[in-house]
Amino acid sequence: MLLNICKAKNCYFFLAATDWPLIWDFIIMITKDLNLAIEQLQKEELIAMPTETVYGLAGNIYSEKAIRKIFALKERPLFNPLIVHTYAVSQLEHFVRHIPAKAKLLAAAFWPGSLTLVLPKKSTIPDLVTAGKDTVAVRIPNHPVALALLEKLDFPLAAPSANPFGCISPTSPQHVADYFQDQLALVLDGGACKNGIESTIIGFENEEPVLYRLGSIPLEALIEVVGPIIIKNKKEIAPNAPGMLARHYAPNTSTYLVDNIESFIKDFPDQRIGLLQFQKAFTASNVVISKVLSPTGDFKEAAAKLYASLHELDRLSLDMIVAERLPDRDLGKSINDRLTRATKKK
Ligand code: TXA
Ligand code: MG
Repeated sequence: MLLNICKAKNCYFFLAATDWPLIWDFIIMITKDLNLAIEQLQKEELIAMPTETVYGLAGNIYSEKAIRKIFALKERPLFNPLIVHTYAVSQLEHFVRHIPAKAKLLAAAFWPGSLTLVLPKKSTIPDLVTAGKDTVAVRIPNHPVALALLEKLDFPLAAPSANPFGCISPTSPQHVADYFQDQLALVLDGGACKNGIESTIIGFENEEPVLYRLGSIPLEALIEVVGPIIIKNKKEIAPNAPGMLARHYAPNTSTYLVDNIESFIKDFPDQRIGLLQFQKAFTASNVVISKVLSPTGDFKEAAAKLYASLHELDRLSLDMIVAERLPDRDLGKSINDRLTRATKKK
C-alpha cells in the first residue's frame, strides 16, 4: 500500500494514504474556550485536553469514528487500549462490572488524580477502546479544565497522551501543536501540566493490586493506602499492559541514561552534548547545554520539568542527550522508568 511520510517536529510517523482525507483538514487553534471544545467533541472530532499529568488526545468513547481517529492520528497499534476519563466516582457503575475493595480505597485516596485503575468492563464499553480486553482503564483527572469539560459532556473521553506513538508526551499546548499542526482542530489550553508524567496504572488480580505502569503517584504512597502491591517482571506484565513497550517517550536525538555523567561524556570529546541532570549542572567543552530538573532535589519539580526539558533538548540538533539517573525511590523511580524507555534503541 502507498504510504506517505510526514514529519512533526523530528518525530516521523507513517500514514496509510487512505487516512489522509480523514485527518489532514485543520489548522490547529490553542484556546481556553470550553464551548469550542465541546462542539468539536459532539461532532465526533478530536481535541487535545489538558490534564495534570500530560495532554491527552481526546474523543467520545462511544463514537467509532472518533476512536479510530485517535489510533490513526497517533499511529498507535489497535492492540493498545485507551484510558477512559470521567469526572466522578459515581460514573464508574456505567463502565465497570466490579470494583475490588482495594480499588475503592485507592479511588477514595487518589481521585481526582494521577491514578488509573484497570477494572472488569461492562459490555457497553466499545471493544475498540479496550482493544478487545475484558477490562477497562479508568481515570478521573485532577485538572479543573478537564473536570469542567467532562462534567459538561454526556459521554466520557478516551484519551491517550497527545503525541505520535513512541514520542515524548506533551506537557504544554505548544508541544501538542508542534506534533499535530494541521491534523487537529483544537488544543484546550489548561497551561503547563503540573505533574508532568503520566498516571500510575494499577490492575487487579484475585482482588489484589498489581502495578501495570509506574507514574505520577509514587508506589510508596499507594502502598501506604492498600498495603503491598504486586510487581511482576516485565514479561509477566506485558500481556496485561500492552502499551508498556521497551522504547517509548523517546526523543529523536540519541539519548543515554547514566549514573556518572562526567566519566561518560569524556569518551565523546567531539560531540555536541545536551545534559539532563537532577540537581547540579555540569559543564565541559563538549557540553552545549545543561538542564537541571530540580536544584533543590525535589522529585515533584523534576517530574514536572522532565518532558518539557526533553522536548527542548530534542529541538537543538545535538549529537546526543545524556541524562543522569535519579535516586531509585519515590518519583525518582517513575522518572528513571521513563528515561530508560526514552533511551532504548529503535
Ligand atoms: O496520565 C495519563 O494516564 C495520560 C492522560 C492523558 O490521562 N494518558 C496516557 O494514556 O498516558 P496512554 O494511552 O498514553 O497510556 C495508557 C496506558 C497504555 O500503556 C495502555 O496499554 C494501558 O494504559 N491500558 C489502557 N487500558 C488498559 C487495560 N484495559 N489493561 C491494561 N492496560 C491498559
Ligand atoms: Mg502515551
